[in-house]
Amino acid sequence: MNRILKLILFASLLLNICVIRAQQKVSRENETEKNIQSLISQMTLQEKVSLLHGNSKFYVSGIKRLGIPEWALSDGPHGVRAEINRHNWAYAGWTNDSATCFPPGTALAATWNPRLAYERGIVLGEEARFRKKDILLGPGINIIRSPLCGRNFEYMSEDPFLISTMSVAYIRALQSKDVAVSVKHWLANNQETHRDSIDVYMSERALREIYLPGFKASVTEGGAYTVMAAYNKFRGNWCSENEYLNRDILRKEFGFKGVLMTDWSAAHTTVKAALTGLDLEMGTDKNDYNEWYFANPLIKAVEEGKVPMSVVDEKVGNVLRVMLVTKMFDESSRAKGKMNTPEHQQAAYNDAAEAAVLLQNNANVLPLDFKKIKSIAIIGDNAIRRHCGGGLSSEIKTLYEITPLEAFQKKFGSTVKINFAQGYEKQSTFKEGNNSGQSGTDRINWKLIEEAVKIAKESEAVIIFGGLNHDFDTESSDKQNMDLPYGQDVLIREVARANPKTVVVIIAGSPVKLTGIVHRVPAILWSWFGGMEAGNAVTDLLSGKINPSGKLPFTIPVSLDQSPAHALGNFPGNNLSVNYEEDVLVGYRWFDTKKIVPQFPFGFGLSYTRFLISNFSADKTNYGKGETIHAKCTIKNTGSCYGAEVVQLYVSDPVCSVLRPEKELRAFEKVFLRPGETKTIELNVKVADLAFYDEAKKAWNVEPGEFVLQAGNSSRNISKAVKIFVK
Ligand code: BGC
Repeated sequence: MNRILKLILFASLLLNICVIRAQQKVSRENETEKNIQSLISQMTLQEKVSLLHGNSKFYVSGIKRLGIPEWALSDGPHGVRAEINRHNWAYAGWTNDSATCFPPGTALAATWNPRLAYERGIVLGEEARFRKKDILLGPGINIIRSPLCGRNFEYMSEDPFLISTMSVAYIRALQSKDVAVSVKHWLANNQETHRDSIDVYMSERALREIYLPGFKASVTEGGAYTVMAAYNKFRGNWCSENEYLNRDILRKEFGFKGVLMTDWSAAHTTVKAALTGLDLEMGTDKNDYNEWYFANPLIKAVEEGKVPMSVVDEKVGNVLRVMLVTKMFDESSRAKGKMNTPEHQQAAYNDAAEAAVLLQNNANVLPLDFKKIKSIAIIGDNAIRRHCGGGLSSEIKTLYEITPLEAFQKKFGSTVKINFAQGYEKQSTFKEGNNSGQSGTDRINWKLIEEAVKIAKESEAVIIFGGLNHDFDTESSDKQNMDLPYGQDVLIREVARANPKTVVVIIAGSPVKLTGIVHRVPAILWSWFGGMEAGNAVTDLLSGKINPSGKLPFTIPVSLDQSPAHALGNFPGNNLSVNYEEDVLVGYRWFDTKKIVPQFPFGFGLSYTRFLISNFSADKTNYGKGETIHAKCTIKNTGSCYGAEVVQLYVSDPVCSVLRPEKELRAFEKVFLRPGETKTIELNVKVADLAFYDEAKKAWNVEPGEFVLQAGNSSRNISKAVKIFVK
């Protein structure tokens, strides 16, 4: 009796705390809204409009007499970009802006570890505060639709659930440091070719199931304070003035109360953009800021009655709201900044270490035991190339960047003979706005190959660091093809002939063709652009100090024509228009449904240890539509070293009135286990999340009947499937 009473008391205490917190939140929000209205009521039209456009490349004017500070924005998603001159794109030459450089977006997603996304958000927030920035322009969360999109490396995945999970963690952490994110690029900026003129068409279902969820989660769960409108058009209207996207979906459906800004130079009109919900114009290519669409022309439009004052007030309100929630009016209470601390560098290392994906490891060639190996050949331009400073707007002036060769020399140079050969030369050049610098870059340099073969013969083992660089994985242009450039296939073939113990490390942020090498070398490790700690992490992975635990966040096709947009011939579109005919069958959804065997599937990644997933079950067999499925499984490390496995839960709907993808990721968890250790994990899926978007009903629809839950460690390695039924 006593216990029951205590429980009741405890529950009512909890309830009271929740109610008080909710009341406090409401009263804080009311207070904020009152402050906003009071400030707006004191502003002239000119002052209001001054808050709605840039006054330089990355700043927006404040209003001194009202105590409204200037707004400072900065790129970007995987580090705070160095300071750029106010009125041109050259770097300002500051000496305190060398930032922590994280591995870019695809690498973050490849960790499948939202804790790391959170950790990254904290670091970025602290460094943004150190640099006195109020908004950090990221995360970039567009869907990886084609292997060729130049910005794939900045984005995260082909799967909206993986993107949503990582993005929400990143945003919550970053914004907890009183810095706003800007989730970009809203919407369907899935290619760089003609990005500033392409008109994107897709079905409502593809929009709802594939392209919106990451943004929806970022706003509704992550609480993103700002969103960046993309360059492209969507169904005939520019994203920066798209009523459907900006008013109907973003504001009304998602309840977004923050700032919708343009991408740099993505504004096209005054009246239409103003009426359809754009708040802030950035980057317009006119030297006189007063001539920008949301400057004097907006004042004129209000005076002529084309834009009501209430619309301007709404925008100013959104700006002030973001300023208030990021505590810009009270610097003393704001989170304090830190730059490039050892903890920040450790966070960058952790990401690189957990991101690497072990694609192949025949006869357990890896890890290399440097207690036994006395000589190693390190080959490849990517063994000595630094990548943090490339990619365009996401480029980072990093405090340092350790290359693989440097790390090997430092860690093993005193006991192991390290032979280096460049192997291939970088023949490409980066050309902004087009990929012509990638042309003619498949020349085979036999002299470099011969040098590489020579040291391969003289060494006990070989590691080739190949892949791409930011001439290919870059903003502003797409890749021309999926090939490994610079004759790397031939280099790898010749070196592997000379020394069969050849390991290939791919450094790239988007899928490349691996057919020329998978049968020639025993081991392949995909280590991404690894940020400032790239070399340290990859050396620790190859030498077994740490165990690879990354999983592919995208499918690697055998060849480009397997990939949906290319199989259907709709990338990058015709006559400045592209229709996403593959519909919801993006990435593995296409490969699995069409029964096409890729080179490496989504979610795939090996380990130096082995795991057994067993006892997969759901808590019930029959569910109502409002319920949650609690699935469970046991995972055991059956090998001999510490490691982590990502348990992935996919769902399928075998009988449905519309074509559904063969399977779709709906939950996952990364589990760390010592040898012999077993853990039981719970994976939860709301029945509502089994729905498809029903175009006829204009609503989400879970059709009653059978669904199959599948647990595995990749989209193509399912350990067990369980049937459930929805009433
Ligand atoms: C990019 C954005 C970036 C902005 C500012 C644009 O070209 O698309 O992602 O944030 O420039 O540098």
